Amino acid sequence: MEQDIPVAERIKAPSQSTPVRKFPWLWLSVGLGVVIIGAGLAWVLPKMLATAPISTTTSNQAVPDPSSPNNPDNILGHLAYPEAPLTELVPITPDGRIKLRKAAAEEFKKMVADAQAAGVAIMPLSGFRSKTDQDRLFFGIKKERGQQPRERALVSAPPGYSEHHTGYAIDVGDATDTASYLDPSFDQTKAFAWMRENAAYYSFELSFPEHNPQGISYEPWHWRYVGDQASLKTFYQARQLAQQAPPSNQNQSP
Ligand code: DAL
Ligand code: ZN
Repeated sequence: MEQDIPVAERIKAPSQSTPVRKFPWLWLSVGLGVVIIGAGLAWVLPKMLATAPISTTTSNQAVPDPSSPNNPDNILGHLAYPEAPLTELVPITPDGRIKLRKAAAEEFKKMVADAQAAGVAIMPLSGFRSKTDQDRLFFGIKKERGQQPRERALVSAPPGYSEHHTGYAIDVGDATDTASYLDPSFDQTKAFAWMRENAAYYSFELSFPEHNPQGISYEPWHWRYVGDQASLKTFYQARQLAQQAPPSNQNQSP
């Protein structure tokens, strides 16, 4: 009799059969689906990983790659530089032909004097160059030698892209060895040996060491001043370079 059953028991819902028993076809399809998707992923994932581009840089080695066609600030590995205002330039030679920005000029003159006191003869060869000067150097010599742009750019910057525009860059030689002027053999001279040891005390550094990231030929004679905020910004701000150096042609005359 229904009345014999306690009310609480009476109003309880009838016990459900387990879902698996009720919908076996549903659970079968879900299981089958999982197996098919798993197998598909196992097949396709290794292929996707194998073809994904692998980054060759880490966050602290960041881009832009100066030789990338996507970097609007480069031509054939050379970076764009504005010309120094003429009012910022001062002569570093008695004839006034070679000029640098004031801060760089002062330090350069000190360096030459200290080298001289140590018996080393550092000779300035080229300092500030305008875009017009560089135009002659790049296109004039390229034509004379019958060079392709890429070949010329290994040893010379196109106009608008030379460190010499900044007034911070200087080419030097050893006055006792004129044959090594603007030649990789300059690195065998006393002047180079002295500068390698001491130039940093005057805030000069080599711009294009061997296997430099820009892919420019080794230029042991070409140094740049990085001793104040303006020069540091000029050469380093947003100009971190690709770490993998493209092959550079060494030992070519500029
Ligand atoms: N000689 C180097 C490439 C320059 O002019 O910047
Ligand atoms: Zn130079």
